Amino acid sequence: MAEEKEFEPVIVGFFCNWCTATAADLAGTLRMQYPANIRPIRTMCSGSVDPVYVLRALLGGADGVMVGGCPPGDCHYVSGNLKARRRMAILKTVLDTLGLEDDRVEIKWISAAEGARRFARTMNEVTESTRKLGPNPMGKDWSI
Ligand code: FES
Repeated sequence: MAEEKEFEPVIVGFFCNWCTATAADLAGTLRMQYPANIRPIRTMCSGSVDPVYVLRALLGGADGVMVGGCPPGDCHYVSGNLKARRRMAILKTVLDTLGLEDDRVEIKWISAAEGARRFARTMNEVTESTRKLGPNPMGKDWSI
């Protein structure tokens, strides 16, 4: 009899090169433990993450999307992170109309200075909250 596999969410992470992606690199270098559910994509700024990319990830079957950027006031392009925050807030209202929980999209500020520990903790939190939501109803099988 086949054993039922525990649900492991697939989360697409759009990480700002200057902050969150650097923190991710540090976490890897320090061999910190965090869930392998994130599929990272490095961007130059959270402000360069078009909401369409997020929608495409979800419509393609990702169970969640996390946008990681520099904390407010620290964006290398002045206000990209503030624009990202506004765009994601608007996108969440669109998700409702598609029948998707808006908690499937999260925006987090993780600076390089806060580093590995905060990155690992955030990955744990995002993975856990996405796991609680269950599989994306528009899902594809992205099995690891
Ligand atoms: S440069 Fe990191 S969010 Fe803009």
